[in-house]
Amino acid sequence: MSRVEIIVAVGRDGAIGRRGDLAFHIREDLRRFKQLTMGHPVIMGRKTFESLPKGALPGRRNVVISSNPDYTAEGAEVVHSLKEAVELCTGSEKVFIIGGGQVYAQAMPLAERLHLTRIDADTPDADTFFPEIDSETWHETERSEQASDPSGLTYRFITLEKK
Ligand SMILES: NC(=O)c1ccc[n+]([C@@H]2O[C@H](COP(=O)([O-])OP(=O)(O)OC[C@H]3O[C@@H](n4cnc5c(N)ncnc54)[C@H](OP(=O)(O)O)[C@@H]3O)[C@@H](O)[C@H]2O)c1
Repeated sequence: MSRVEIIVAVGRDGAIGRRGDLAFHIREDLRRFKQLTMGHPVIMGRKTFESLPKGALPGRRNVVISSNPDYTAEGAEVVHSLKEAVELCTGSEKVFIIGGGQVYAQAMPLAERLHLTRIDADTPDADTFFPEIDSETWHETERSEQASDPSGLTYRFITLEKK
């Protein structure tokens, strides 16, 4: 079985999305996302796939979960459960769960590592949230210095491992 890792950008209030889009757009975060995931399979829900501005992510095996048996996604493989998605990637050293809220919630029990971008802001109109990170289950192994985006948002990168 591949190692399952989650990557997410999350606000102070747990926000990750609003109206089908990311809650935050931080250039450095997108750069880090690309650096960490490049060459590895990425697993996502149908709604996250449809939110990608340029479709399937290049240089990575894209796996999309949908309950619709007729769903097709250009440049991606479609499966019908998270288990099926992870099994499809057996043979890869690790896979990244890249969202959204529904898929993160299902992946928390499977994941061994969380790559968080913690943004120091609330998003009052958010409609999608990351599940609670239980300190009994997860411990922090890395924490970057706080950084600032040109838009004024401050954030840091945090890595957590399952105990
Ligand atoms: N901040 C971040 O790092 C980040 C990352 C990714 C996404 N997001 C945001 O999160 C939001 C999308 O999240 P979301 O929770 O609304 O949707 P999502 O998790 O991306 O996709 C949900 C869809 O996935 C399919 N699905 C999920 N679990 C399934 C299962 N067990 N079996 C079969 N199908 C399953 C269903 O598709 P069907 O309806 O086709 O059956 C479901 O409607 C967007 O706003 C996006 O921008 C944020």
